[in-house]
Amino acid sequence: MPRTVAPLQIGPLEVWPPLVLAPMSGVTNMTMRALYKPFGLGLTVTEFVSSNALKFGSKRTMAMIDRHPSERPGSTQLWGDDPQTMAQAARLVRECGADVVDINFGCPAPKVTKTDGGSACLRDPQRCEAIMRAVVEAVDCPVTMKMRLGWSENDLVYVDVAKRAQAAGVAAVTLHARTAKQFYKGSADWAHIARLKEAIDIPVIGNGDLDDAHLAMRRMRESGVDGIMLGRATLGNPWLISQIADLMEGREASATPTPADRLRFCLVHYRTMVDELGEARAVPQMRKHVALYLKGILDASTLTKTASGANPDAQFFCTLNKSANEAEFAIPQLPPGKYAFAMVRMEGSNPWRLSLLLRQEAGQWLLAGLYPKHLTANGHDGLWYWKEARTLSTGKEPWNAWLYFQEAQALLMPANFVSSTHLDKLQTELTSALPPAISGGIGPDTPLVVKAADGAEFRFTALSVQDAPLSNAAGSTPLDVLAHIKVDSIGDGASARQRNVAAASALLAAHPELRKSFHGVWVFADAAGQNSYSTELAMSDIK
Ligand SMILES: Cc1cc2nc3c(=O)[nH]c(=O)nc-3n(C[C@H](O)[C@H](O)[C@H](O)COP(=O)(O)O)c2cc1C
Repeated sequence: MPRTVAPLQIGPLEVWPPLVLAPMSGVTNMTMRALYKPFGLGLTVTEFVSSNALKFGSKRTMAMIDRHPSERPGSTQLWGDDPQTMAQAARLVRECGADVVDINFGCPAPKVTKTDGGSACLRDPQRCEAIMRAVVEAVDCPVTMKMRLGWSENDLVYVDVAKRAQAAGVAAVTLHARTAKQFYKGSADWAHIARLKEAIDIPVIGNGDLDDAHLAMRRMRESGVDGIMLGRATLGNPWLISQIADLMEGREASATPTPADRLRFCLVHYRTMVDELGEARAVPQMRKHVALYLKGILDASTLTKTASGANPDAQFFCTLNKSANEAEFAIPQLPPGKYAFAMVRMEGSNPWRLSLLLRQEAGQWLLAGLYPKHLTANGHDGLWYWKEARTLSTGKEPWNAWLYFQEAQALLMPANFVSSTHLDKLQTELTSALPPAISGGIGPDTPLVVKAADGAEFRFTALSVQDAPLSNAAGSTPLDVLAHIKVDSIGDGASARQRNVAAASALLAAHPELRKSFHGVWVFADAAGQNSYSTELAMSDIK
């Protein structure tokens, strides 16, 4: 099939397809760009990076200019108001591997415009030109520029600034057809984009409100632009990218994904983010993505009555394609209201589940929480651990039994505030399986005190199981006992390690059965006001 559009030429770089992912600060980080690239993007751009911040090179700023190996070509976007600082930043990002340096004259956010950066530059086209000349001179790769129509509707400078860009040696211009003052209100006016294409000779990339594959192709054709940039509409819907890429390749646009495909990809996105950024950073970022992936899929509008005819506040929902499995669940810690709980499961060697808590507010279902979980540990699921725990408890291995009950609970519980008759039963068995030495429970105030042969005393405040890390395939990751000890002070690294080793050794001497069911012990030494010190030890390393 012949292609329906030509590649986008940015200086010596040929970009195919001429489809660019819009930089979106706080959204399009490297993980996200790498996930979306295979859908058919020709070019990806980093989130905008402050040229001033690059002077200090903090870890966080430097991470923003990182690129994934699949991002070839990849563009790094800079913002700032000072030509020399911008030139210096451009040299740095080029040295760090940028194939293209993009200048931001479009951001309308006050934190940027108050320092005369982003779209505020458009109030002074001469300064725009000075910045572009300095950056073009500083690097040996193509420089592009992204802008809005102007600061306000009375000040539409885009043609003037684009002509200056062309004269300064800029290789391509992206136009988001709104003014800075408009922010995201109204709609992008593609007539301006067509006008710009007429006015300059360098390639123009059109941007704004492309949310449908056929619309995107029509806009491209009618405006005559060389490339298009997609932003918000791709979020939760990267299939828009593949549909446009299909049309550009001369194929029929691929079908819209099924709800199951969307949820599956959502989970892949989720997992990748957690793996790469850690849960603490990934979860807040994923809230908006998950909500977008779910848009229009979850139909929790028909919460049915229970068998007894009651209309419960909360139901356990497992729904896909309108097939719902319902069970009664109590959510005691949550404020009264109507909730639905949806679960997405990803099969494979390392199955995963994402539970979504939805809360009804003013007739709408809003995302109230996300609970990602792997469903196996060391190749076994929660029911297996439950069964094993029962066998172990009759076989005089109370510690192993109790820890296995804990693992069963960790794997079976969709989220820690949910209870059900099934889970209650497990909780009861877990409680009654508490070994006599900690029959009142174990905690900071009720530690398990273990004496070593040399008389040293260790106060264990928690004992649990370390699940197989998310990134590892099932079966390949062994299970550790996770032990916390309370100490007065962590001390230096060597003595902290020595103490952790001694604690593990004392624990195993007191309860040798642990050697049978676990691969090792992770000891965490906790001291008030200090970071914990942890040591992972294989059983074979613990004497
Ligand atoms: C959350 C968010 C962050 C953005 N961050 C940037 C940015 O860092 N640099 C930039 O040039 N544009 C940024 N933009 C603007 C987009 O690149 C794009 O121009 C705009 O969203 C219009 O395209 P769309 O209608 O396809 O979303 C951002 C937009 C959004 C919604």
